[in-house]
Amino acid sequence: MDCFLIRGGRRLSGSIAVAGSKNAALPILAVSLMTGEPCRFRNISQLRDIQTQIKILNTLGVESHWAGKVVETRVRDSYNSTAPYELVKTMRAGVCVLGPLLAARGECAVSLPGGCNLGERPIDLHLRGLEALGAEISIEGGYVKAKAPKGGLRGAEIYLGGKFGSSVLATDNVMCAAVLAKGVTVIECAACEPEVVDLADCLNSMGAQISGHGSPRITIKGVKRLKACDWSVIPDRIETATFLIAGAITRSPITITGCRPEHQLATIDVLRQMGIRVERGRTSLTVVPAERWKTAEVTTLPYPAFATDVQSPMLALMALAEGTSILTERIYPDRFMTAAELRRMGATISVANGQAVVQGVPRLTGAPVMASDLRAGAALVIAGMAAEGETRLSRIYHIERGYERLDERLRKLGAAIERVADEDAAPGAAG
Ligand code: EPU
Repeated sequence: MDCFLIRGGRRLSGSIAVAGSKNAALPILAVSLMTGEPCRFRNISQLRDIQTQIKILNTLGVESHWAGKVVETRVRDSYNSTAPYELVKTMRAGVCVLGPLLAARGECAVSLPGGCNLGERPIDLHLRGLEALGAEISIEGGYVKAKAPKGGLRGAEIYLGGKFGSSVLATDNVMCAAVLAKGVTVIECAACEPEVVDLADCLNSMGAQISGHGSPRITIKGVKRLKACDWSVIPDRIETATFLIAGAITRSPITITGCRPEHQLATIDVLRQMGIRVERGRTSLTVVPAERWKTAEVTTLPYPAFATDVQSPMLALMALAEGTSILTERIYPDRFMTAAELRRMGATISVANGQAVVQGVPRLTGAPVMASDLRAGAALVIAGMAAEGETRLSRIYHIERGYERLDERLRKLGAAIERVADEDAAPGAAG
C-alpha cells in the first residue's frame, strides 16, 4: 500500500485542467444497459470507481473497451441481470444500474450496497419510486429483486423527497426506469444536481423525452427504445471546488481550466465571504488569494447550495481562518471524520449534532494522518500542502476512487507531494 508524503508551505502556480465528472460518469455508463446499439462515452476519468462500474456492467453482459478517456460499450447478452455483492459493496453507486436494468430487462437483482463511511445511506426512495412505476420489489438474501408488471412499467406521478431533501441516485434510477415505461412520469422533488442533468441530456440524445431536468420537477414521456449514444460527460464540479480551495489555502493564484464556472456559485460565494476572490472566465476560474482569510458559516444542502462533497476541504480552509467558523452538515450528519485528522495537524474543531465549530489557528503542522473516505482524503492533501513540515497521508486508495493522478497533477503546480510505500501500513488495513 502507498501513502502520500506532503511537504507543506509551498506556493502553487500555473493551471490545472479538471477531469470528467465521476458522479456524472457512473450513472451515464449504466445507460449502456438500455440499448442494443453501441455507446461511446467521452471524458471518462481513469478512476477506481469507474473501473468498478465497468466491472459491474461486464458482469451484466456489457462488453467494453476503454482507451484513454473514451469508453465504448455494447450489450453482448442479457442473460445475467444480477449485480453482485462483491462489486456493489465496494462502491455504493453501483446501485444506479437498478433503474436501467429494470427498464431494459423487466427483471433484475442488485445487491444492497451495505454500510458506508459517510453514515447511513438508505435506498428507500429508489425503491419507492420504482414501485410507483408498477415494479414489484422484494429484498431477498441481501439483494433488491425488482420485477416489472405484465405489460411493463407504467408512467406515474412520483414524490421523491426524503428526510434530507432529494437524492441524486434515486432520481437517476427512477428517471432511467421511466424513460422506457408506458406513458408519462412526473418526478416531484427530483435532485437538481448537474450530474442528473447530464444523465437526462445523454438519455435525450438517445431518443428519450425528458424535460424539466435541473428543476425539482422532471417530466418523462416514455419511449419504446433508445438508440446508440455518443456522449461527453461534464467536468467534475467537486474536483473544481477542491482545486479552488487548494489555491485559497496555499495562497496561490492558480487557474482551473476546462470547468463549468456556473456549477461553482455556492463555493465561490463562501470563498468571497472569507475574503478570497475568484475570477471567472468562460470555462476557467482563477483564485485571487488572500494572505489571511475570514470565517464563514456554511450549511451543506442539495444543489445549488453548498455541496456535502466539498465540506471536508472547506473544513481544512476554515481551520486556518481568523476566528470561528461553523459548518453544518445536512446531507450526511456523520460525515466529519476529517475533523479528528485535522486536529492531529493542530486544528481546533469540535463536532456535535452534525455541526462542526472551527476555531481558526494561525498554522497547521504536518503529521501522520489517514484518509477515511474520498473527500476526507482530498481535504487532508490540501491541509498537508498548507501545513508546516511533513504530512504522511495513508489510505490514499480512497482518493484514487475519485481523483485522477492527484499527486502528479498537483506536483505540476509546484506542490511537494510524493507517493511512497507505506511501511507502517498494518496488514489487512485496506478494509
Ligand atoms: N436518502 C434517503 N433515502 C434514499 C436515498 C437517499 O434518505 O433512498 C438520503 C441519504 O440518507 C442522504 C441524502 O438522501 O442524506 C443523499 O442521498 P444519497 O446518499 O442517496 O446520495 P447519492 O445520490 O447516493 C450522490 C453522490 C455522492 C454525494 C451525494 C449527495 C454519486 C455517485 N454520489 O450520492 O457523492 O455525496 O449524491 O450530493 O453521485 C462522493 O462523490 O464522494 C459522494 C459521496
